[in-house]
Amino acid sequence: MSDIIFSAQNISKFFTQGKKTVRAVDDVSFDIADGEIVSIVGGSGCGKSVLAKIMLGLYHQDKGVFLYKGKPITNTREHWNEVQSVFQDPFGCFNQFFSIRAQLKDAFGILKNKPSKQEIEQRVDEALLAVNVKPSDIEGKYPFELSGGQMQRMLLARIFALKPKVLIADEPTSMVDACVRANILDYLMKLKVDLGMTIVFVTHDIGLAYYVSDRIFIMHEAKVVDQGKPEDVTQHPKSQQTVRLLEDIPDINREWIKK
Ligand SMILES: Nc1ncnc2c1ncn2[C@@H]1O[C@H](COP(=O)(O)OP(=O)(O)O)[C@@H](O)[C@H]1O
Ligand SMILES: [Mg+2]
Repeated sequence: MSDIIFSAQNISKFFTQGKKTVRAVDDVSFDIADGEIVSIVGGSGCGKSVLAKIMLGLYHQDKGVFLYKGKPITNTREHWNEVQSVFQDPFGCFNQFFSIRAQLKDAFGILKNKPSKQEIEQRVDEALLAVNVKPSDIEGKYPFELSGGQMQRMLLARIFALKPKVLIADEPTSMVDACVRANILDYLMKLKVDLGMTIVFVTHDIGLAYYVSDRIFIMHEAKVVDQGKPEDVTQHPKSQQTVRLLEDIPDINREWIKK
């Protein structure tokens, strides 16, 4: 039991706008085990980000049971001590008016047991090196002085520094070119291998998911329509949507899928 990180039992999340109700997540069930990399794959608007936000405690399900390590999420601040996120837009996550290093250091403020100043400096240096950035290269730099790809790395550096138990990465590769994308995926796998992190990776590209995941969930119209090991999902797709997603893989990622 203790090695289950997230457990969803028939969860649904609705949004009501005027007379219209949108089913963002509809009767979804799954378990995610400690140390797994699970990808949630599906087209735009199928409910991936809403599901990711439920995992982060930003939304509460309207129906069903959702547990983190066997308990409902009640205190979001406490939850964020262990469960953190990397989102699509790295610039939106950093303040333009403070240096990058200052913000990496400030990030430790979220932790219940804040390390000493000296340890924070050291962990920031180690985290930068973990994403192949020389600390001196960003010294005194502000977000606007970095490229999108470099900023994505800074987001990942923050994760390497804080070492959360769980990472929710919602389309972290969508704004970057293919080379940086491959790098980010390698860093995700490094977080799993080096730190034993549990990672939920949200993407519309089943090719990327195949590359990094222990398991893949395919979402379509608010439901999980297929799930399993990457080889099983890609070689024996159980839904029409899986087949369609396999057809839509950019050629550059296709080579990753072993035939
Ligand atoms: N805060 C919100 N208010 C109303 N509708 C929302 C909200 N967030 C998401 N939705 C709707 O829920 C559905 C799923 O959205 P989302 O999870 O963001 O999709 P995606 O798979 O692209 O990440 C979409 O129809 C979206 O318009
Ligand atoms: Mg989304």
